[in-house]
Amino acid sequence: MRIVPMLATATVVVAAVVDVFPQERFSFFYPSTPASVERMLKLAELRDDDVVIDLGSGDGLIPLTAARMNARLRGRGVDIDPKLVDESNQRARDTGVADRVRFEHRNAFDADLREATVVTMWLFPELMRLLRPVILERARPGTRVITSTWDLGGWKPDKMLGEEPQVYLWIVPARVEGGWDWDLTVSGKQIPYGVVLEQHFQQIEGSGRAGDRREELMSATLRGADIAFTLNITLDGLGLTKHEFSGKVESDRDDGGNRGNRADRIVGTARVTPSQGETFTLPWRAQRSAEPRYFAPTGTALFERQPQLQVPQDR
Ligand SMILES: C[S@@+](CC[C@H](N)C(=O)[O-])C[C@H]1O[C@@H](n2cnc3c(N)ncnc32)[C@H](O)[C@@H]1O
Repeated sequence: MRIVPMLATATVVVAAVVDVFPQERFSFFYPSTPASVERMLKLAELRDDDVVIDLGSGDGLIPLTAARMNARLRGRGVDIDPKLVDESNQRARDTGVADRVRFEHRNAFDADLREATVVTMWLFPELMRLLRPVILERARPGTRVITSTWDLGGWKPDKMLGEEPQVYLWIVPARVEGGWDWDLTVSGKQIPYGVVLEQHFQQIEGSGRAGDRREELMSATLRGADIAFTLNITLDGLGLTKHEFSGKVESDRDDGGNRGNRADRIVGTARVTPSQGETFTLPWRAQRSAEPRYFAPTGTALFERQPQLQVPQDR
């Protein structure tokens, strides 16, 4: 209900300040209600080690409420209006949380999100969507993103509180699209594996290769940095073999700088179940590959070893 006056006022205010503000899109200050902020932060399931960053922090309500709800977490806010930033820092001092909560005068597009574990936004929908690539690029995989009232377009929420105003939660996915290679030693034989992953935000699918055979990946999931998929594929001498891979995606970018949220390796385990035999578990370490094995020449040897694939001569 309160959004309607907000939008009506927006047209007038946007027209009035259009020459003053340097960026094309902005969202003027209109505070969230305490009840809506509590719903947002409940959905975030706050933890002691959280760093909650509000993009467009206004009078500081979201980080200050987070600090009240959890006495250990840290809060940050960035706002384009220096007066609001000063007021917010004063409120942090007045409420005795200035050691954990601070506000910066900064454009949200320039925010450093490396230390964020929760990013909150209550801005005009276009502005939130323009900030979407910034979050996906700079926030670490696993960061929870919370908005109220408006969603983030084609990036489907991982969770949502339905009643008005809606509150949405997304988990920032690791960037895993592309080719990955690794080896496994199965029954004394070293086998080269490769997959090519395709990604649409947190949804992934892909195709895998073991030796010269290829199969589609099954049950592929990605949640933050946690990835899992199954590859059912025939291995020479072992027959159809089920591989259940699960692991954590890691990135080399931890050495600092916003160099892109791109994963470099996966570390985890492979549960291997041959068609005849016991399940066993192996360590799994996959490396991102510039020249994925999946695309390496396949040759015709497999066909020559399996003459039943050829059309019978007597037909
Ligand atoms: C709708 S208010 C939300 C305030 C607060 N987050 C809350 O929920 O109560 C939007 C805020 O975003 C700030 N803002 C607008 N565009 C911004 C930008 N590009 N960078 C940083 N802050 C911005 C405005 O100054 C305003 O304080």
